[in-house]
Amino acid sequence: MRLMVDGQGIEIDADPDMPLLWALRDLAGKKGLKFGCGIAACGACTVHVNGEAVPSCTLPVGQVEGAVTTIEGLSTDGKLHPVQQAWLEEQVPQCGYCQCGQIMSAAALLEHTPSPTDAEIDEAMSGNLCRCGTYPRIRAAIKRAASLKAGA
Ligand code: FES
Ligand code: FES
Repeated sequence: MRLMVDGQGIEIDADPDMPLLWALRDLAGKKGLKFGCGIAACGACTVHVNGEAVPSCTLPVGQVEGAVTTIEGLSTDGKLHPVQQAWLEEQVPQCGYCQCGQIMSAAALLEHTPSPTDAEIDEAMSGNLCRCGTYPRIRAAIKRAASLKAGA
């Protein structure tokens, strides 16, 4: 089947029931997204499908319609995406395992809501868990990213 991933059309030989997560990691070589729970409960596998943040672990690849973006394609200009820049500046990650999913959810949030409140951040990020408890830095980084985007 044919998928559009990170701006490129790719051909993969996959069972249509294969979760998008594994199609991306094992067949398309996109290792940024992570497997955490496999039941859409942790957010580690979050990617964008047509700009919306979705857990890829429960989405059959055969049902994907439209463009998929992983963290490897989040920036399209060769620089860091403002969310990635803000993550660096706020030194968000601890172990790092959840962070790809966090960044993808944050980037989708800011596309819809350029200046989110704490409540909007909490709601948008509620599907992304962090065992290391980096939530305060995530919130700060989202606000910093909003400022970076506004100033760009
Ligand atoms: S691995 Fe997909 S939400 Fe946890
Ligand atoms: S940084 Fe370790 S799980 Fe989030």
